[in-house]
Parts: sequence; C-alpha cells; structure tokens
Amino acid sequence: PFNSVVLGVAGHLPSKRVSNAELAERIDTSDEWIVQRTGITQRYIAGPDETTSTLATAAARKALLAADRAPRDIDLVIVATSTPDYTFPSVATQVQAGLGIVDGVAFDLQAVCSGFVFAVATADKFLRSGSHRCALVIGAETFSRLLNWEDRTTCVLFGDGAGAMVLEAREAAAETEMPRGVITSHLRSDGRHRDKLYVDGGPSTTQSTGHLRMEGRDVFRHAVGMVEDVVKAAFEATGTGPDDLDWFVPHQANRRIIDASATKLGIAPEKVVTTVQLHANTSAASIPLALAEACGDGRIKPGHLVMIEAMGGGFTWGSALIRW
Ligand code: ACO
Repeated sequence: PFNSVVLGVAGHLPSKRVSNAELAERIDTSDEWIVQRTGITQRYIAGPDETTSTLATAAARKALLAADRAPRDIDLVIVATSTPDYTFPSVATQVQAGLGIVDGVAFDLQAVCSGFVFAVATADKFLRSGSHRCALVIGAETFSRLLNWEDRTTCVLFGDGAGAMVLEAREAAAETEMPRGVITSHLRSDGRHRDKLYVDGGPSTTQSTGHLRMEGRDVFRHAVGMVEDVVKAAFEATGTGPDDLDWFVPHQANRRIIDASATKLGIAPEKVVTTVQLHANTSAASIPLALAEACGDGRIKPGHLVMIEAMGGGFTWGSALIRW
C-alpha cells in the first residue's frame, strides 16, 4: 500500500493586475460594491502571450523546484481546467511537452471550480494503486476569456492563474495511525443544476467558446450546504473534527461563502486561508494558489492537517483531507 505525499506546491499569476477601481472605469460598478459582496479587491488577467498552458507550465516548473524533483521523475500529469488553450490536445500534454517529459501519461480533467480537488483525488487513486510514482497535479484557468466584459454581475468575480502540486507515492507505514499524504477524498456531482452556472457555448453546440452565465444568488444558496456535506464526510471518514484541522483551504469564490462555511462547520477563523481578495475566483486554480501562499509564508508546515474543498459548475463539489 502507498500514500500520496505532498512534496511541493507553487502558483503562477499573469503579469497584469487589475484593481476594482480600474474595472469601475470600464463598467458600471464600484470598489465598494465588489469588496462588500465578495471580498475581492483585485485580480490578475492573462495578457496576449499568456494562455492556460503557459500559466500551468510556469506553475509546474516552480512546484518541481519546491518539491526538489526533475521533470523526468514525473509519470502522471493531471490538469484541472475548463479553459483549455484548444478543444484538443489537452493542456496536460502541452505541459508535458513544455517540461520535456516523454514518459508516463498526461490528461485534463474538467470539474470547473472543483477541478483541483477532483484532480488530487484522481492522482491519489493512481498513486495508491502503485501504477504511477510521481504526479504533477495542476489547476490552471484563463476565465477572463469566458467572461462577458459587459456583464457586471459576472465579470468582476473572476481572475486568471495556475497552481501546481507534486504528489509522490510513499510506502505506507503500517504503524502510523494517520500517515502523511492524502488521507481521504469525497467527490460529488449533480447535473440537475446546469442552468445555475454554465457557459453558453461549446464545440458541439455553438461552435464557439461562449460566455459564463451564473445565477449568483442561487449558487450562493446551494454553496454552503455542499461544502458542509463533503467536509463533514471527510471528518466522519477519519474520526476527525474542526479542532483537529491546522488549516482550512477552501475554493476562493467569495469571502462570504468562505466565512459562512467555516462558521457552519465550527472552524476557527484564524485557520482559514483566504486569497480571494487578491486573486478573485480563479476556478480550478484557486486552491493550489492559496496553498502556495500559505506554504510560501510558512503557515502550512510538515505534519499539519489541511482540508481543501470546492464547489462549482455542474454542480460538482468535493473535499480532500491532507496530512502535509
Ligand atoms: N457592481 C455594482 N452593482 C452590481 C454588480 C456590480 N458588479 N453586480 C450586480 N449588481 C447589482 C445588481 O444589479 C442588483 O441591483 P438591483 O438590486 O438594482 O437589481 C444588486 O447589485 C444586487 O445583486 P445581487 O445579484 O442580488 O447581489 P448579491 O448580494 O447576491 O451578490 C454575488 C452577487 C456576489 C454574485 C453573490 O450572489 C455571490 O457571490 N454568489 C455566488 C457566486 C459564486 O460564488 N459563484 C462561484 C461559485 S462556483 C465557481 O466558482 C464557478
């Protein structure tokens, strides 16, 4: 038996930063409205030379450095994204080529904002099985290219970016009650909620990319319950509770959803990692970007118990409990 141990995490943001005030020059909104409703103060937007695969590859290089691993060590690349450079090939194979990896397997996974949690859970199952040894798990998005920049109800909420994690299979030490690595993961989906959060285009329908559409209030109403569902499932599966967590690293969609979820679950505010104020909602990239911040500034340390969770379009939702 193997465990999937986290060796390193890193993020990469586009070079262009856009403040709320800058948005307010172009559309009918205000810094005050955006901050009060969402906590967001700024976001990063990909420039003409930046795409999901270039951001993903840059994050992957930094994560390999943090993990002290070389591209040749990687035999599994999973990229969670809803905004690939092209319909195909996958972003993952472009990352593979960009890093000079010629062995192993690379593929994309699409679960919108829950994508990174789904990708961690998927990589964990590959590594536990013994079929693969070392995985690059990436969340990378350029949601700016799906937004209708005339629609103030959605365009202020999102940003671009990428985050990557290196997971490696380790022999599970039989005597340890709670070993390092991914301890449990819980994934869910329910396709009945399609119309609450979707993109109105695609290759098989409009033959175009389309724009993001969201019933913000409806999404908000469902979000906290879904988060509660999967986080409680992780607690129950492991006999742990909110007080056992060192860090809670939620998907960064909205400050109010994060705060309401933590309160409902009894997780102390000082254990909650939030980056939504700086990055806005970067969909599948938000959790690895937040993990990278909290590892980079020394908050998350080896041995710490970290809960990640997300919900997104589909709906999809999921959690993973990780001993760092
Ligand atoms: N600037 C100024 N005013 C605005 C803006 C804006 N950018 N956007 C909307 N408004 C106005 C609306 O027109 C409305 O005006 P009205 O009352 O005159 O009709 C008013 O503000 C209130 O609009 P609501 O939509 O009711 O505002 P609400 O308090 O619900 O906040 C928000 C909107 C922030 C979108 C909230 O519903 C939310 O966060 N929902 C969850 C969305 C989310 O997190 N989605 C992502 C999760 S899944 C994923 O990550 C893909």
